[in-house]
Amino acid sequence: MALLIPTLLLHLLSLPFLVLSKSTIEPCSVSDTCNALAGYTLYTDLKVSEVAALFQVDPILILTANAFDISIPDVENHILPSGLFLNIPTLCSCADGIRKSLSTRYQTRPSDTLSSIAGSVYGGLASADQISEANSITDPFAVQVGQTLVIPLPCTCFNSTDNFLPAIYLSYVVLAGDTVPGIAARYSTTVTDIMNVNAMGSPVVKAGDILAIPLPACASSFPRYASDFGLAVANGTYAITASHCVQCSCGPGNLNLYCTPASLAVSCSSMQCRGSNLMLGNVTSQPTSAGCNVTSCSYDGSVNGTILTRLSTSLQPRCPGPQQFPLVVPPPTYLSPDTFLAPGPSPVQSQPGGPVPTPKTSFPGAFNSPGFSPASGPAGSTSHAAALNQLNHPVDAIVFCLLLKFLL
Ligand SMILES: *[C@@H]1O[C@H](CO)[C@@H](O)[C@H](O)[C@H]1NC(C)=O
Ligand SMILES: *[C@@H]1O[C@H](CO)[C@@H](O)[C@H](O)[C@H]1NC(C)=O
Ligand SMILES: *[C@@H]1O[C@H](CO)[C@@H](O)[C@H](O)[C@H]1NC(C)=O
Ligand SMILES: *[C@@H]1O[C@H](CO)[C@@H](O)[C@H](O)[C@H]1NC(C)=O
Ligand SMILES: *[C@@H]1O[C@H](CO)[C@@H](O)[C@H](O)[C@H]1NC(C)=O
Repeated sequence: MALLIPTLLLHLLSLPFLVLSKSTIEPCSVSDTCNALAGYTLYTDLKVSEVAALFQVDPILILTANAFDISIPDVENHILPSGLFLNIPTLCSCADGIRKSLSTRYQTRPSDTLSSIAGSVYGGLASADQISEANSITDPFAVQVGQTLVIPLPCTCFNSTDNFLPAIYLSYVVLAGDTVPGIAARYSTTVTDIMNVNAMGSPVVKAGDILAIPLPACASSFPRYASDFGLAVANGTYAITASHCVQCSCGPGNLNLYCTPASLAVSCSSMQCRGSNLMLGNVTSQPTSAGCNVTSCSYDGSVNGTILTRLSTSLQPRCPGPQQFPLVVPPPTYLSPDTFLAPGPSPVQSQPGGPVPTPKTSFPGAFNSPGFSPASGPAGSTSHAAALNQLNHPVDAIVFCLLLKFLL
């Protein structure tokens, strides 16, 4: 480990000099926004609050986006170890016709250069050129200490879906030694899906490239006027919303957003469903001859400090089991050799360098899989069956089916 850290730093510092790094550009025309994630590797030990300040994000949102426990004392001052990889929530907007996140500001310090800010402080998420452009800097050597710079961060929305299923997109900076099959395995997706999303001609990447990786997510359907409209939570994580009053989690059993009163909740508006004695997150079920009568009190967004709730009753074939929650762990204090640059499991359909055919035929009925409720599943068919022939492992085939890709 002692040897690995300098190697990584060396690598990160060298990123700005890789002039031809590619990153996935999503053209856009409407000024809507979506929730996205930026994959960030810490260049030094940093407190949670310091990482939050770097990206101008609520520290709680960083912790929850990584399934870290926020209930430990003084969690914002917890020191995260250098080299740790974090998913940073970003707000992805549309500027100059492409998707990017422009809400991050950085105040320069002595000895900063645009290259060190881009490649080291922001872990290669931005380039020196992009920072120059976003700030109309003509002379990169004339940047003053204490100057506030906009740091443009990569992000994509792609309609917040992947193959018609809710997804949240992670902007991933390729590290030395990464391969597309390795990245696909790490994120339980396929080489084909990554190639389709990123419009790649061949599954070849190099250090410094930025890929858009779709993560399966729980989507919300809050009204447009809710302050947390469009909330999406990646599988296996959770989010705190409504001024820290509501906690919404996603997975692992299904991809239905499940919200309850947050443990942090202090002064919050009522979280009881009107006309019932149920609280947010309460589900009652009653077996009847026709099926199970399920009544639930769910969260419907936050409007001007008021927590909207929705009471719904439905007849379901079976009564739901106890709600499952994502595994939440304390934020790490040091990086074990196992988690640090550990090689991903070796992918079954690894074909580095080989062309992957563009799938054409139709493959209906691929979504009848446990874990997806019929409500969130698509009705139609999609188009990636040919590539299925390449998959010689049943588990891969299932994962592949779940992640069938239509955005080319
Ligand atoms: C975008 O996603 C919504 C559901 O979130 C879906 O109804 C719509 O068809 C999608 N649009 C496109 C262009 O894929
Ligand atoms: C969600 O994550 C769990 C593990 O946390 C995994 O078992 C499950 O397959 C994932 N669901 C999807 C749709 O990727
Ligand atoms: C209803 O939800 C509240 C808040 O999460 C919880 O404390 C309570 O135990 C739940 N009641 C039932 C019957 O599930
Ligand atoms: C289902 O339960 C709700 C509330 O408990 C009740 O109002 C409704 O009449 C029930 N519906 C059926 C079909 O039993
Ligand atoms: C929120 O409150 C402000 C001022 O009280 C009001 O102008 C606005 O319409 C409210 N927004 C919604 C969505 O109710």
